[in-house]
Amino acid sequence: VQAPLVDRFGRVHRDLRISLTDRCSLRCTYCMPAEGVPWLARDTMLSTEEIVRVARVGVELGITEIRLTGGEPLLRTDVVDVVRRLTALTGPEGSPEVSLTTNALRLPGLAAPLRDAGLERVNISLDTLDRARFQQLTRRDRLVETLAGVAAAEAAGLSPIKINAVAMRGVNDDEVVALTRWAVDHGYQMRFIEQMPLDGGHTWDRVTMVTQAEILERLTSAFTLTEVPGRGAAPAELWSVDGGPETVGVIASVSAPFCGACDRLRLTADGQLRACLFSQTETDVRALVRADGTDVDAALGDAYRRCLAGKKAGHDIDDPTFLQPTRPMSAIGG
Ligand code: GTP
Ligand code: 5AD
Ligand code: SF4
Repeated sequence: VQAPLVDRFGRVHRDLRISLTDRCSLRCTYCMPAEGVPWLARDTMLSTEEIVRVARVGVELGITEIRLTGGEPLLRTDVVDVVRRLTALTGPEGSPEVSLTTNALRLPGLAAPLRDAGLERVNISLDTLDRARFQQLTRRDRLVETLAGVAAAEAAGLSPIKINAVAMRGVNDDEVVALTRWAVDHGYQMRFIEQMPLDGGHTWDRVTMVTQAEILERLTSAFTLTEVPGRGAAPAELWSVDGGPETVGVIASVSAPFCGACDRLRLTADGQLRACLFSQTETDVRALVRADGTDVDAALGDAYRRCLAGKKAGHDIDDPTFLQPTRPMSAIGG
C-alpha cells in the first residue's frame, strides 16, 4: 500500500475537487465580471481521459471523495461520462463518492442521468429567492429555471440537497431567515457562506463582510438552533432547526478558519494541482499526463506529494501580507 497523502502538518488528504470547466452560464457579481474572464484555451483543458487518469492515481493514494466543480460543471458536455468513470475507480478504501456543486440550470435534463451514472448528491448555489435580486446578482433572469433544477435534483433522488448562499451585505443578508424557512420546508440543507477574497473584481472587504456571528444572530431571531456535533473536516458548522431533522449551516472560512482539519486538494480544468484555494503556486500535471515514454502514474503520484509538500498551515487572510490568488474563483472551483 502506498503512503497516504499527508502534508507537513500531518493532515491526511482524502478529498479531491475537480474543476471541469471555467465557463459559466451565470455572471454572479462576487465571482465574475459581466463580460466574463479570458477563458482557458481548449487545448490546455484536460480531456476526460486525462482527468480520470489523474483522479485514478489520487484514489490509489487514498482519495475517497471527489467533488466536481466549475465554473459550472454541467456545461461540460460529457459530464455524465465523467461521473460514470470516476465512480468506477477503486482504491484501497473502495470507490470514491462523487458529488457536484452546480448552479442547477442544467439539472432538469441531467439530474436523472447523473444519478444513474453514480452521482451521490449535489450542492446548489442559490443566493436569493427574489427574482429581481437574482437577476441583479447573477446578471441573468433565470431564478425560475434554477428552482426547476433544484426540484429536478430532488425528484431524481439526489440526497441530501445542500443550498449554498454567499452572504452579502445589502444584497441578500436580509434573506437569511426566508431562505432557511424555504429550505427547511423542502427538506434541503441551507448553508450561508462568508464571502472569501476570491472575487474577480477584487472588491472583497473584511470590514463589510457578513460574518458568521451576524448570520447566527439573524437565524436565532427566528429559529431555535441546536449545534450538531461531529463536523470532522467539513467546512460547514451545522445546527438543527427548531429541534427538527432539518439543519442549517454556516461556512465561516474567514472568521473561523477550519484549515487545521483541511483534507482537500484541487485540480483545475487546465490540469494544475492546488493545495489550497489560496495557493500562490500550482503543480502542473497536464504536462505529466501528456508526456510520452515515462511512467505517468509514478510521475502523477510524485506530483501529488510535491503539491502537498508546499501546502501552508492556513490561508492567512487576516495577515497584512495576504495576497489574493491571481486565478479567479471561477477557474479554481470553490
Ligand atoms: P460538502 O461536502 O457538501 O460539505 O461540500 P462543501 O461545502 O465543502 O463544498 P461546496 O462546493 O458546496 O462549497 C461551499 C463553500 O465552501 C464554497 O464557498 C467553497 O468555496 C467553500 N469551500 C469548499 N472547500 C473549502 C476549503 O477547503 N476551504 C475553504 N476555505 N473553503 C472551502
Ligand atoms: N467566497 C465564498 N464562496 C464563494 N463562492 C463563489 N465565490 C465565492 C467567494 N468569493 C461559492 C459559490 C458556490 C461555491 C462553489 O462557491 O456560491 O456555491
Ligand atoms: Fe484548506 Fe486552504 Fe481552505 Fe484552509 S483555505 S481549509 S488550507 S483549502
